[in-house]
Amino acid sequence: MKRLAVFASGNGSNFEAIAKYKNEVYEVKLLICDQKDAYAFRRAERLNIPFYVVNFKDYKDKASYETEILKYLKEYEIDFIALAGYMRLIGDVLLSEYDNKIVNIHPSLLPAFPGLHAIEQAINYGVKVTGVTIHYIDEAMDRGKIIAQKSLSINNEMSIDDVEKKIHKIEHLLYKKVLEEILRGDNKDEKSID
Ligand code: GRF
Repeated sequence: MKRLAVFASGNGSNFEAIAKYKNEVYEVKLLICDQKDAYAFRRAERLNIPFYVVNFKDYKDKASYETEILKYLKEYEIDFIALAGYMRLIGDVLLSEYDNKIVNIHPSLLPAFPGLHAIEQAINYGVKVTGVTIHYIDEAMDRGKIIAQKSLSINNEMSIDDVEKKIHKIEHLLYKKVLEEILRGDNKDEKSID
């Protein structure tokens, strides 16, 4: 069994979907969060998964902040990291220790609409198709090799809330399965799951 850590900053619905997914390849063993009042902690409590807050403001720089996180990752013998609504860029300390072992989920079809409010950006732009991307991460925001994408057709009758609900539904189904494929070694890099 591979041991997975999830990093989140807020609500944590993706964390919960991944953590509840029973499979023979991985188990979520740890939640790391950079916000002390993140709702994700309540979910971790309910699921009986250890969780830690590491507050960036308590450290002199990103390297020392990530060295603290690394301590927990070592303690829990974490093999792989899934970012799920984690609002920080990953720095050198974690990138070099977990080379090719950190993935992220983003609510648009990257490279379109990286960054904050991706769903709103897509709606405001007037796109007719948007979706969800799962990708390896690098030092830049929402960049890195794409692993899987799923598209969603939208129209101007739909509110932000409608689109958000549909995107989250896709995310909750897709992320856990893609993680299973990657960690089982089945993912052939450029797979598109439709
Ligand atoms: C998701 O839409 C994810 O794609 C983005 O942040 C959101 C996190 O939602 N990176 P949640 O905290 O998992 O509910």
